[in-house]
Amino acid sequence: MILQNPPDGPLPLPRRLELPVIEPTTESAEQIAALQREIRRLARERDAVVLAHNYQRPEVQDAADFVGDSLGLSRQAAQTPASVIVFAGVHFMAETAAILSPGKRVLLPDLRAGCSLAATITPEDVRRWKGEFPGYIAVGYVNTTAEVKAELDYCCTSGNVLDVIDAIPADKGILFLPDFFLGAHARRMRPDRRIEVWMGECHVHRGIRAETLNAARVRHPEADVLVHPECGCAGQLIYEMGQGDVEPEGLHITSTEGMIRAATENAAPKFIVATETGIMHRMRQMAPTKQFIAADPEAVCAYMKAITITGVRDSLTLDQHHITVPPEIAARARGAIDRMVALGR
Ligand code: 13P
Ligand code: SF4
Repeated sequence: MILQNPPDGPLPLPRRLELPVIEPTTESAEQIAALQREIRRLARERDAVVLAHNYQRPEVQDAADFVGDSLGLSRQAAQTPASVIVFAGVHFMAETAAILSPGKRVLLPDLRAGCSLAATITPEDVRRWKGEFPGYIAVGYVNTTAEVKAELDYCCTSGNVLDVIDAIPADKGILFLPDFFLGAHARRMRPDRRIEVWMGECHVHRGIRAETLNAARVRHPEADVLVHPECGCAGQLIYEMGQGDVEPEGLHITSTEGMIRAATENAAPKFIVATETGIMHRMRQMAPTKQFIAADPEAVCAYMKAITITGVRDSLTLDQHHITVPPEIAARARGAIDRMVALGR
């Protein structure tokens, strides 16, 4: 399971997660507007804050108090004065919020909202791996269960992975988990560091291949390109940039929030977007005069899409589903998460 170089063959599949069927949004515009008003009213009554990830359905994003990447939402969860947090995201994000805000009630509208990447590693795997590399510092992507986080020294997101690596003394080796592509990205950006990489993957980003992205670039040569580092194509792009085969101009490899910043702050009129397609809703809202094209229109996360607008409303009315983390696990995970939230501000 431990890699030094990118594999040629497929990476291991997630171990235990059912992929939910994606139900289309069937409500009319009027029904959606009414549900959104109801959610705002219920949130006020219950002293709740609604947090939504950039990959959520458009109507769920529009009903939220804050929309952002996993790091930004963790920060919101840590600092909100609200007594209830409705997390329109996936399970590990709600767990992280529960750890950061132990006095609050954290609700996940649908328990099927897991993460194929988080499912690629267990706490036993981490303990075994640490045993093989004594003295190494364990750095885990936030896309991990609370039990895995309890085994880590540092947590990170795609938004601050390099800040985290830079904060670790240069003579220390690093175990990076669970995303192979993000780990490969870190290794290429910090070639002087000893970084072992776990061979986990997200099924959505793995599916965005270099060939698909290259075909989109040929069709839209004038477009800037926004790539999430979890993507299968990111590894190849960074390699080709290193070889001088790809012009870095107009290419941005960054977290979901970094992609939104690049789309709004950059002068380019057109962007190819290589990540889950839900992010384009916010891009279009924030930069309405620009054009956004999905590198792969099939890149849709069924776990994120398990959350619906009625599901968010029901979570507030029915007080479901309450996400808790056992205190002993939470205490051990908290140090790694606090370091993540503090770094790379
Ligand atoms: P971000 O940390 O960039 O929001 O990504 C989270 C995620 O689940 C990527 O698939
Ligand atoms: Fe997990 Fe991938 Fe979905 Fe992100 S897009 S939540 S990494 S399965």
